[in-house]
Amino acid sequence: MHSFGLNVSKRMILMIPSVLPTYNRAPLQFVKGEGAWLIEADGRRFLDLGAGIAVNALGHAHPALVEALTSQAQNLWHVSNLYQIPQQQALADKLVETTFADTVFFTNSGTESCELAVKMARKYFYDKGQPDRVEIITFEGSFHGRSSAGIAAAGSEKMTKGFGPLLPGFVHLPWNDHDAVAAAINDKTAAILIEPVQGEGGIRPLPDTCMKGLRDLCDEHGILLILDEVQCGVGRTGKLFAHEWAGITPDIMMVAKGIGGGFPLGAVLATEDAASGMTAGTHGSTYGGNPLGCAVGCAVMDAVADPDFLAEVNRKAGLLRQKLEGLVASHPEVFEEVRGSGLMLGLKCKAVNIDVVNAGYDNEVVTVPAADNVIRLLPPLNLTDEDIAEALQRLEKAAKQVAAA
Ligand SMILES: Cc1ncc(COP(=O)(O)O)c(C=O)c1O
Repeated sequence: MHSFGLNVSKRMILMIPSVLPTYNRAPLQFVKGEGAWLIEADGRRFLDLGAGIAVNALGHAHPALVEALTSQAQNLWHVSNLYQIPQQQALADKLVETTFADTVFFTNSGTESCELAVKMARKYFYDKGQPDRVEIITFEGSFHGRSSAGIAAAGSEKMTKGFGPLLPGFVHLPWNDHDAVAAAINDKTAAILIEPVQGEGGIRPLPDTCMKGLRDLCDEHGILLILDEVQCGVGRTGKLFAHEWAGITPDIMMVAKGIGGGFPLGAVLATEDAASGMTAGTHGSTYGGNPLGCAVGCAVMDAVADPDFLAEVNRKAGLLRQKLEGLVASHPEVFEEVRGSGLMLGLKCKAVNIDVVNAGYDNEVVTVPAADNVIRLLPPLNLTDEDIAEALQRLEKAAKQVAAA
């Protein structure tokens, strides 16, 4: 039979779509991006306050990123990590220069960064002659990816139901309860793993004092502090990495999303001591640290690590937050509060958050739902003051629509 005929008849008997239906997708098909704007197939222009869930740190089609990607694409796309990769070396050097880290391993996603962070912590204690120190303390509402380690780390029923047996060795504690953490640490504990600002959990920043408290507990007990900055890192909160606000440093940090500006790229950053178990042959990746991703990552870092850029992020974050406070005050039937840090903001809703997101689509503004009935605003870090003014007008219309429904 002709293959076209075969496909048509196969499609007629199948109930499942050809794309595995694990997402409830909005009926929107974006075909182009320009700065903080997305253009739908029908020509409508949407203001993008989601940035692909905190990915497009420099907006869409940023000239420096397009240039980095296309010029690299003309030379070399891929070589194995069996060889020297100068773009990878350059990006690692930039990260080591600008952060607490002494060494970096590149991944393709946040989930893969979580996998390595967990392996690194366990190997550290194994090599130190404490092979029973395998447990990692994590927190209610957290999100660390969809791999077996990621869902076990999060621990929620929503993430884990039906996927057992789960990877053992995670201890789940309430969010922001120092005494619970202090009481849970024992001679099996290897690390504490936490997002400085919970993203999927509903934009919940950990207070600086709590972050300092966790660092102190780790120091006191000789265990590792692993920070998941996949969503809150790379300038998102107005510092290069969110933990800088608390004046502490982690031992291991997971990064992804913004670091690639839209190209799939992640990283695990670590101190020399925390990384000491990860010797040749203990970990690897076919694609992690490939020339294309790292060329783009270097361009992202050149822009975002600039103190003037971060100062602008903070200024715009202040402006956006102030306007959002006004929006919440004028629509108390729709919104409860503004929360978050920098340009990682959440509107806790009184209305159903999905209704607010959908009303946003009707008014051509993109936001992202999160747990705890929150909508997330994670715009490109370089959105303009005009974009902010436009965002508020559109959110205002969406709020009125929800209130009138
Ligand atoms: C805090 C956090 N960690 C890990 C992940 C997983 O990253 P990825 O989807 O790139 O695997 C995410 C993704 O949303 C995240 O927000």
